[in-house]
Amino acid sequence: MLGLKFETATSWVEIAKDNLEQILTDHAYAEQKASSNAIGIIINYSEDTALVKEMIAISIEELEHFKMVHDLMTKRGMVLGRARKNDYALHIHKFFTKTSNRTDALIQRLLVAALIEARSCERFKVFSENLEDKELADFYKELMISEANHYATFLGFARTYQDSKIVNKKWDDLLKYEAEFMKNRGNSAFVHG
Ligand SMILES: [Fe+2]
Ligand SMILES: [Fe+2]
Repeated sequence: MLGLKFETATSWVEIAKDNLEQILTDHAYAEQKASSNAIGIIINYSEDTALVKEMIAISIEELEHFKMVHDLMTKRGMVLGRARKNDYALHIHKFFTKTSNRTDALIQRLLVAALIEARSCERFKVFSENLEDKELADFYKELMISEANHYATFLGFARTYQDSKIVNKKWDDLLKYEAEFMKNRGNSAFVHG
């Protein structure tokens, strides 16, 4: 799905289902971080009008998602927990060597964002397809579609800044790196855990 080279097992859903408050808290912050990341891109690449327009739209949508998760939590009598470090995102960010070239840095940033969207989307899909809780299943299905669009936007932009063959190679290498990491996961109630 979405080019990902490792599929999440349904055993992860069972763990997530049993720790709903924890996964919803983690999910809420994933949305907040996605919104902040889009704003960060705006700040760093303010001259790129087409990119800025898309990032404004994404940052607003992600904050709306944050609200949706928070509303769902409060409706169910849950309280948003404290944010924690996302070791998945930290690991993914380590893949690319830091560069002083602004364009290369932007491509790297867009590919990392595309990948995080893709994995979130895959997790939301497997979650929604294996939940008996209809409200929650519909909720995750809706978000899954939205994150798939974000994935396509980030990847699409990355391919406009450099020869698409070069970008595709970077993307493929990043996917392999991520798949290796994911093989040992699926055992905790976090969106990327
Ligand atoms: Fe989102
Ligand atoms: Fe997203």
